[in-house]
Amino acid sequence: MPLKFLITAGPTREPLDPVRFISNPSTGRMGFALAEAAMAAGHTVRLVVGPTCLEPPAASEVVRVTTADQMREAVLSRLADSDVLMMAAAVADYRPKAFSAKKIKKASGLLELALEPTPDILLECALTKEHRVHVGFAAETHDLLQNARAKLEAKNLDLIVANDVSQDGAGFGAVTNRATLLWRDGRIEALPLMSKRELAEQIVSAVVGRHGD
Ligand code: CTP
Repeated sequence: MPLKFLITAGPTREPLDPVRFISNPSTGRMGFALAEAAMAAGHTVRLVVGPTCLEPPAASEVVRVTTADQMREAVLSRLADSDVLMMAAAVADYRPKAFSAKKIKKASGLLELALEPTPDILLECALTKEHRVHVGFAAETHDLLQNARAKLEAKNLDLIVANDVSQDGAGFGAVTNRATLLWRDGRIEALPLMSKRELAEQIVSAVVGRHGD
C-alpha cells in the first residue's frame, strides 16, 4: 500500500540582519535521496526544503522555507495527513535573539551575539505521533551511539540514522554516507560506506517494512 511521506531536507537560515544569517553546510542531498527512493517505491512524497543550490526532486509537493519557524509551520500543517515523517533537515538549533532591520555596521571591538533556541520540530511532532513512523537524523562528532540513542528516546522516534560527520565521506554535502541505524527496540545496524541514494533505499524499505508494526 502506498504511504504518505513527509520529508524535510537542507539547512535553515536564521537571519541576523538583512544581509547576514546563521546556518550550516547542509545541501539537502540526504533528504532528496530519501524522497527519490520513496517515490521510486511508489509512495507519495511531500518535501519541505530549506535554502539549497541543489534542485529538489519532483515530489507531489515541494515547499520552500527559510527559517526553522517556517519549517515548523510547514511540517506541522502537513503532519496529520502523513504516515511517515523523515526529518533529514539540519535545522539550526539557535537563532539571533534580535533581528536588526538595518544592516549592522562594523565598529571596533567585539560584537557579541545573543542566541536563543529555535523550536525543536521533531520533539513537537512527537506530541501527536500515534501510528505515524518518525525518523530522525543525528549528525555527531563524538559519542555517536550514546548521543543518537538519547535523541531517539527524547524525541520518541522509531528510527534514528546516526552519522559521524567527522569521518571522510560521511558529512554535509558528501554524496556518500556511513550510517548506523538505531531502532526503537534497541536493534543497531552499522552500515558500510555507500551512496546517499543506496542508504536512502535501505532506510525507506526498512521503514515501510515496519509500518503498522
Ligand atoms: N531537529 C528538529 N528541530 C530542531 C533541531 C533538530 O526537528 N530545532 C531534528 C533534526 O532534523 C534531526 C534531529 O532533530 O532529525 C536531531 O537533530 P540534532 O540537531 O542532531 O539534535 P539536537 O537535539 O538539536 O541535538 P544537538 O544539536 O545538541 O546534537
